[in-house]
Amino acid sequence: MPNPSLLILPGDGIGPEVMAEVRKIIDWYGAKRDLAFDVSEDLVGGAAYDAHGTPLHDDTMARAQEVDAVLLGAVGGPKYDALDFSVKPERGLLRLRKEMDLFANLRPAQCFDALADFSSLKKDVVAGLDIMIVRELTSGIYFGEPRGIIEEGNERVGINTQRYTESEIDRVARAAFELARKRGGKLCSMEKANVMESGILWREVVTEVGKDYPDVALSHMYADAGAMQLCRWPKQFDVIVTDNLFGDLLSDAAAMLTGSLGMLPSASLGAPMENGRPKALYEPVHGSAPDIAGQGKANPIACILSFAMALRYSFDEGAEADRLEGAVETVLAQGLRTADLLGEEGAEPVSTSQMGDAIVDALNASL
Ligand SMILES: NC(=O)c1ccc[n+]([C@@H]2O[C@H](COP(=O)([O-])OP(=O)(O)OC[C@H]3O[C@@H](n4cnc5c(N)ncnc54)[C@H](O)[C@@H]3O)[C@@H](O)[C@H]2O)c1
Repeated sequence: MPNPSLLILPGDGIGPEVMAEVRKIIDWYGAKRDLAFDVSEDLVGGAAYDAHGTPLHDDTMARAQEVDAVLLGAVGGPKYDALDFSVKPERGLLRLRKEMDLFANLRPAQCFDALADFSSLKKDVVAGLDIMIVRELTSGIYFGEPRGIIEEGNERVGINTQRYTESEIDRVARAAFELARKRGGKLCSMEKANVMESGILWREVVTEVGKDYPDVALSHMYADAGAMQLCRWPKQFDVIVTDNLFGDLLSDAAAMLTGSLGMLPSASLGAPMENGRPKALYEPVHGSAPDIAGQGKANPIACILSFAMALRYSFDEGAEADRLEGAVETVLAQGLRTADLLGEEGAEPVSTSQMGDAIVDALNASL
């Protein structure tokens, strides 16, 4: 069996800094767990624009379609703000998501015990929190037609259209049921079936798909009530599935229950490839953080946890993903903090590379 293949796209700003720490982890798995990856690296975003005049070269796009998983750092930065929309760094990322047809965006909100005090909610509300939001990523109101700003009478009208086909709902619902089956066995579907036809169809299709998953407890909630429940008692949820717009809002809100942007991983998954693995892109939720780039201040944990998601969802290495998440938990319990994880009166922060080294040490100690 050939080694699984991984395309690494560090991108801009802190992207290359946090990715350098992920490379240490990947090397560790090759050396210590007999889990070697064929790793190739390429440019995306501003870095690709500087080299090729485009935020994603066609060769890079073709490579992304071939590999088992893509791991991306972050794109963008003030240097590129004045560029034409068509070549902005973010277009590189959007092209990857679109052409790989990554319809299921997985956004975990997990609270490490050592950081429970860091949340804006009370400690007992968030300690031990572990939920997964599955957001539909390639359809809905961000893509539906008609759209635009038109003249009507003597004023302008802004139009966007929420549109979902049955098959689009079916495939993201299945992805969410599969996840729930491997986790706590609970799935909550959120829409606004009380006021939107697309919500009525969403609820019907999810209910229908649920018949294939009798072992998963399915519930439905209006998305506005869901937002309230996420703040009130988030631990009632296991997996949440929702559309593109509500998922955008709910996943950001849920993620912040757990503290810093520097801690948040994500996965975007598409249809299975010939080898059975899903098309997959893993990336931290944060951007390129130009305010701290090049200073060794970035927290690499979001990117490292994105690799843990790759181990779990692309490579079926759940036990090794547990090991890596456990190593992160260990270093946090030891009190190690990058600057973003320190409160007002905080102790001395560790650097990006010190955090990466400490996680490797914790991996060694786990053997
Ligand atoms: N997926 C992506 O690549 C992505 C996502 C969001 C923003 N961006 C781009 O990134 C650039 C900066 O955007 P922004 O400032 O709005 O968002 P950002 O996520 O880059 O930064 C927001 C704040 O969080 C801090 N932060 C972010 N990640 C951190 C980490 N790992 N460790 C410590 N602190 C961290 C930053 O220092 C900053 O203060 C823009 O060009 C934007 O378009 C890219």
